[in-house]
Amino acid sequence: MTQTTPQTVRLADYQPFTHLIQKVDLTFTLSPSATKVKARLALAPNPARPGHHALKLDGEGLRLLSCTVDGVDVAPKLSPTGLTLAARLLPKRPFILETVVEIAPEANTALTGLYMSRGMYCTQCEAEGFRRITFYPDRPDVMSRFKVRIESKLPILLSNGNPVRRGKASAVWSDPWPKPSYLFALVAGDLVSHSAKYTTKSGREVVLNIWVRRGDEDRCAYAMDSLIRSMRWDEEVYGREYDLNVFNIVAVDDFNMGAMENKGLNIFNSRYVLASPETATDEDFARIEAIIAHEYFHNWTGNRITCRDWFQLCLKEGLTVFRDQQFSGDMRSAAVRRIEDVMTLRARQFREDAGPLAHPVRPDSFVEINNFYTATVYEKGAEVIGMLKRLVGDDAYTRALDLYFDRHDGDAATIEDWLKVFEDATGRDLSQFKYWYTEAGTPKLHVTDHFADGVYTLTFEQENPATPGQPEKHPKVLPIAVGLLNPNGDEVVPTTVLEMTEARQSFRFEGLAAHPIPSILRGFSAAVVLDRDTPAAERAFLLAHDTDPFNRWEAGRALAKDVMRRMVTDAAEPAADWLDALAHLALDDTLDPAYRALALRLPGEDDMAQTLHGAGHVPDPDRIHAARRKMGDALAARLGPRLPRLIDDLADVGPFTPDAKAAGRRALRVAALGLLSRLDGGAAAEAAYAKANNMTEEIGALSALLDVGKGAAQLDLFQARWSADRNVMDKWFSLQIAHAAPADAARVTATLTDTAAFDWKNPNRFRSVIGALSANHAGFHHLSGASYRLVADWLLRLDPLNPQTAARVSTAFETWHRYDTTRQQIAKAELQRILAAPKLSRDLQEMIERMLGAA
Ligand code: BES
Ligand code: ZN
Repeated sequence: MTQTTPQTVRLADYQPFTHLIQKVDLTFTLSPSATKVKARLALAPNPARPGHHALKLDGEGLRLLSCTVDGVDVAPKLSPTGLTLAARLLPKRPFILETVVEIAPEANTALTGLYMSRGMYCTQCEAEGFRRITFYPDRPDVMSRFKVRIESKLPILLSNGNPVRRGKASAVWSDPWPKPSYLFALVAGDLVSHSAKYTTKSGREVVLNIWVRRGDEDRCAYAMDSLIRSMRWDEEVYGREYDLNVFNIVAVDDFNMGAMENKGLNIFNSRYVLASPETATDEDFARIEAIIAHEYFHNWTGNRITCRDWFQLCLKEGLTVFRDQQFSGDMRSAAVRRIEDVMTLRARQFREDAGPLAHPVRPDSFVEINNFYTATVYEKGAEVIGMLKRLVGDDAYTRALDLYFDRHDGDAATIEDWLKVFEDATGRDLSQFKYWYTEAGTPKLHVTDHFADGVYTLTFEQENPATPGQPEKHPKVLPIAVGLLNPNGDEVVPTTVLEMTEARQSFRFEGLAAHPIPSILRGFSAAVVLDRDTPAAERAFLLAHDTDPFNRWEAGRALAKDVMRRMVTDAAEPAADWLDALAHLALDDTLDPAYRALALRLPGEDDMAQTLHGAGHVPDPDRIHAARRKMGDALAARLGPRLPRLIDDLADVGPFTPDAKAAGRRALRVAALGLLSRLDGGAAAEAAYAKANNMTEEIGALSALLDVGKGAAQLDLFQARWSADRNVMDKWFSLQIAHAAPADAARVTATLTDTAAFDWKNPNRFRSVIGALSANHAGFHHLSGASYRLVADWLLRLDPLNPQTAARVSTAFETWHRYDTTRQQIAKAELQRILAAPKLSRDLQEMIERMLGAA
């Protein structure tokens, strides 16, 4: 191995910074190849670190032009990671440090720090990008007031806070709120805005701007509407108002993530801003609404109260995901949003928690912090808050949050601070609950029941599996929401939250006339894997009668998974009772179409592989794929003649609207069309494609065609129509790979990577192609090893340019240990080949080493 061992950072080593920064003045003289950054920092010794200390500032890839202390030249010690000024060069009182550095934004391919995207300057500083802009203590607990001057001839010059002055070729911005460097942002370009006005509850007038490239301004209305609804919602539900005179959002095409909450200047991946009925699917609309809300909500949960250090990342991300989930639930259907969130949790977080990359919601060490923006920190972090709310109740949750904002506004806080407000607001002891933050792994909950003499007893046993570095676990506090139904379908015990704290615990329900049917873990009240031998008849009963919409859906899903499992392991046929139950539900027009569409969605192949692996089997990707197809065929055959009518009945009435109701109808219609094409060879889908007038239908019809081996002509039409639209063309790429047969997936992908339109340096495009191949379960894990090889090749190619995106996409391999020894050997050899590459980034190296560590 040619790698050096990068430093591990540990939570236990935390110390406050040696100095305080009272004020920051930055001047940017923009130029693609030689931007000058002058930084004037008003520093003072930090009383929390008594003594006379050297000053160590982070800095990466900066060319230092000058450095003065109180106006006098000094010679700092420079290293590849920063600058040190010896204590003897520094006064023991407040002083001014001024540095001038030069950087080259046009050469910045990593898309962190100051970079260029198609002629515009933009920044991405979280987590540690600011050190690529200037020398600074680039850590979230150092908070300061920023004033920024931008010099450039470009027409639009933006930074955080409020505008102060606009000159002929300059602009000055001032942010009154102290903030850490990761929330700094700057944008300069030839942009146009879609604008609106908003008045806060207390009467502050706020100008809202969404800045985009010329020509995109008519695709901003939905994002603006989402922003306004988010601002109102946060006032109404959390009592939080916006705190500046202007709120800017900028859409950029080259972006590693989805979006970023920079104070007063959110920067978005353009795919999460731009939308019109012709270009965006209903899923895109929903995603835009949620991400706009998420970044806006960070203004309080993240910006006003930030994180003391990056180990506390879930303090802002878990809470803000929880808040955006609540918001979407209120805007749309709470039941549908809950089901979708649980599907994501299982697909991404349970998968992570069961593999070599498992880590606690609050990790205690890392090599590269960017590798810890994970499903565990985000999705499980949000679930933990949901569990806390379920345990203390809604009113206590509100009191605790008010206390959190009162007590910690302006702070860089910790998970201990967060839990303490709940303890103080409720009088509860949360020391056991805290294990949810400090221990990794998904608990397994085994359930048995017993009925005698009118007493029904549920006995739960929790199993907390070992994870890398954590062999021993504590029992978790589990809020288990339970309801009991009579055999006639009446609810005899409404939803009750049982609080489980022991490894094994029983709960009694008295005075029952007959053996009830239990509905356990309603609303997915705890983030566990439920293990109970449930007869198919009982699942079918709950699918028909449960009053809890989540568990009703869950019963159908569990039934489908049981069916799929028997098909994979025992070569069974798709069970008739499952088909009957699902067909009944699909055609029941008293139910919400969105809900019926969700029920028709078959369990994913990766999800099935995860479940089989968790039950001690070695999953066979080909058999899982074949079983899933067969289930689809059987369902199509079962619904057969009813499908055309179902599709007609769901036709759009009136003009397109992106709301949940209309989207739900389209979702069910598209699902039905997919089934119908299994019967008619794609005839109906071809007709639907020809007359589609929105992207949901266009993609729906095209998917249905590709699924049955058709659609070549439509792919050409699609390409001809959309070749100038990057975000739409990403769909064209990913769709072909998603629908490729297992044996073809690598070849289809390789062919696409050979086309001129495969701009692999653009993260969206890279993910649409290489990410899409890793998401095609049977295709990625094909026994030939061709996909493993192709993905590894592309990771090696991208890593020197954009380590963050390479490291994220490498999680394709996090499940390699699940499969048979042949596949394991091929995957492992590819991981070792990556690791052997010269000059691997710290990001990718850490990921590969952790994944190999599972061997
Ligand atoms: N703060 C993050 C963006 C970020 C992530 C910056 C990783 C640097 C490294 C932002 O608030 C965020 O969480 N964005 C998500 C979308 C969100 C809706 C979950 C993203 O970008 O995926
Ligand atoms: Zn976030």
